[in-house]
Amino acid sequence: MYSKISNPITNRNVNIYSKKGNLILKKYLTKLSGGSSKSNDNFFDMLEKFQGERMDDQRSSHIVSKIEPIKASTIKCGNKLGKKIGEGTYKTAYVTKCVKKIWGYEGEFSKSFKETDCKDSTILLTNEKNENFLREVDLQQKSKSPVIFKYGKCKDKKYNYKIEERFDEDLFDWLDFNIDKKISIMDNEELLNNFKHVFKQVLYQLRNLHEKNISHLDIKPENIMVKYYKDSRKIKKMVLTDYGFASEFPSKIKGTPNYIDPDIIHKSILTLKSDIYSLGITLLVSLLNSLGSFGVSDKVPFNEGLYEIIKYCPEPSESIENWISELFYPNNRKDPIFLDLLYHMLMCPRKHRYDINQVISHEWFNTDSSTV
Ligand SMILES: Nc1ncnc2c1ncn2[C@@H]1O[C@H](COP(=O)(O)OP(=O)(O)O)[C@@H](O)[C@H]1O
Ligand SMILES: [Mg+2]
Repeated sequence: MYSKISNPITNRNVNIYSKKGNLILKKYLTKLSGGSSKSNDNFFDMLEKFQGERMDDQRSSHIVSKIEPIKASTIKCGNKLGKKIGEGTYKTAYVTKCVKKIWGYEGEFSKSFKETDCKDSTILLTNEKNENFLREVDLQQKSKSPVIFKYGKCKDKKYNYKIEERFDEDLFDWLDFNIDKKISIMDNEELLNNFKHVFKQVLYQLRNLHEKNISHLDIKPENIMVKYYKDSRKIKKMVLTDYGFASEFPSKIKGTPNYIDPDIIHKSILTLKSDIYSLGITLLVSLLNSLGSFGVSDKVPFNEGLYEIIKYCPEPSESIENWISELFYPNNRKDPIFLDLLYHMLMCPRKHRYDINQVISHEWFNTDSSTV
């Protein structure tokens, strides 16, 4: 269990349970405001100010400058929207309506965008600022998945659009169905080994980003897309998407409660290691079917939740056996190698956490599990 909090005046770590630690904690809690999800900008701003470390906001400009500005690829978006298939905070995804006649009117468009591409594509609309949208498109293109076929502005000027490879659903919905049907991946050898195998695709995508010193900063099941076989539910392809928050290191604080690196209590920036924490929680949610001790309800103010959650990070001085037995009973017998991986991915302070290469080479990702 994590038990230290840093004194913002002396920068020294103090025991959370001591009188002094409690005082510091109260100070944190009164300074910070609550809220949920991505709309926590105020909270993040306050946290940053409180910790007194101002970030350089120019950090993303060189990424933006490398891509083509949106020019003439303006299309009528309204008549291309089929069924709505997903919605996040900024973007809404629809099946692309592929009426040949409609594409035909937009000559430049129909040349580079084949009918077969269209059939398996989704059109996402967003009214985000141009600059953010372009940065996101740039990073997604560099990561090569989901493949973007076309992007630009809608004719009515209200939205930016991107047309990209369509996935069956996001990992959140895939997991939700499993819970509904009482399918436990951990108890199904085939599904479990398939899951760890395809999850590696996400790890490689993240390694690509990290090698460029870019953190994704919003890793969670809603931002991982899957294609799967409808009968067996085995996953064919899994990719990381939504580069809306991705930033070069060091980054100011943004993300999603319960997935965000709780070490921001001590250091007001996010790093590449913050992605490893979110990835660890994503694995935990996916395979143990719930957030368990690591999640707090939406009703708990964000700042209090953070304090609750950091207590469950393993510290390097805590034995893995102790950490597992406190948090994962009765799941602790299920897959000790998996829990060993989580122990190293969720560690606080973050400098002790695995980096992406250590995650990729961990035994769990490189051996098949047996459920008997
Ligand atoms: N390529 C895709 N194929 C299928 N669904 C997608 C695709 N991209 C996004 N979605 C759906 O749209 C939702 C919102 O997209 P996302 O890029 O996460 O935007 P936001 O920034 O609003 O979170 C996703 O959670 C997912 O359900
Ligand atoms: Mg999203």
